[in-house]
Amino acid sequence: MTIYNLGSINADYFYRLPHLPAPGETLAATGHARGLGGKGANQSVAAARAGAEVRHIGAVGVDGAWMVAQMRAAGVDCTHVDTVEGASGHAIICVDAAGENAIVIYPGANRELPAALLSEALIAAGEEDWFLLQNETSLQAEAAQIAQEQGLFVVYSAAPFDAGAVMAVLPYLSLLIVNEVEAMQLCSELGITLADLPVPHVVVTLGAQGAVWHELQAGEEHRIAAYPVPVVDTTGAGDTFAGYLVAGLAEGLPPLGALRLASAASALKVTRAGTADAIPARAEVDHFLREQG
Ligand code: RIB
Repeated sequence: MTIYNLGSINADYFYRLPHLPAPGETLAATGHARGLGGKGANQSVAAARAGAEVRHIGAVGVDGAWMVAQMRAAGVDCTHVDTVEGASGHAIICVDAAGENAIVIYPGANRELPAALLSEALIAAGEEDWFLLQNETSLQAEAAQIAQEQGLFVVYSAAPFDAGAVMAVLPYLSLLIVNEVEAMQLCSELGITLADLPVPHVVVTLGAQGAVWHELQAGEEHRIAAYPVPVVDTTGAGDTFAGYLVAGLAEGLPPLGALRLASAASALKVTRAGTADAIPARAEVDHFLREQG
């Protein structure tokens, strides 16, 4: 059972600031760091740290070898990560004193994926496998369609949110992950309620209120409260949640069990600065859950 993840790979440049910059303002950072990031790479690392077998599908530029090395070190199979011309994706991440962020990304190689990558990567994939994608790469709709046709369980983590991008993949999805505001925006674009979304499962994240899994065909809901933790940096918390959620499902956990695992992992992430480097290992998440009782 393998999780195939079509996802971005970014160099994250972090700047710690007293507050997020206003238009026209020049601010001195109180700290800076560089690390592996990108919503795709973060989700691959999260799923691998959760214990899943993960194959990442993506690309970096010639400057990106260090990022691929870090993904491999985290246990992610990078056989289908290409090196293309031009710059790797990168992100400028400003984090304020409350741990909130503002992010600028340059997509670079993430939007230059060679189409042949998909067919090569998915050649051996089948019904027991999982396909995960986000909105930071090219080839999203093509990939989701191929994955669905091959019988994989297709999960879309709709970040960064764009209603048009979600609509392009919606016919191929098994599970959609959105936050509350995004769910409302999507439903208003489509002129329908959440219950009428044409996808079997929707997970809506509710920030400090936790998350809810809607089984739309069965008309059932599974709800989990958030774990209260001291906030250091919220960057990558959603990616940690998505990666751990899919890994939990892939190991056979029921929806509520997978939500609980994902929620605990993202709570731990929020207590640490950084993105991929700050994603907790499974043993830490299990320990945290035991402490919660
Ligand atoms: O979700 C956090 C991620 O968003 C960062 O790692 C950054 O690279 C952007 O993709």
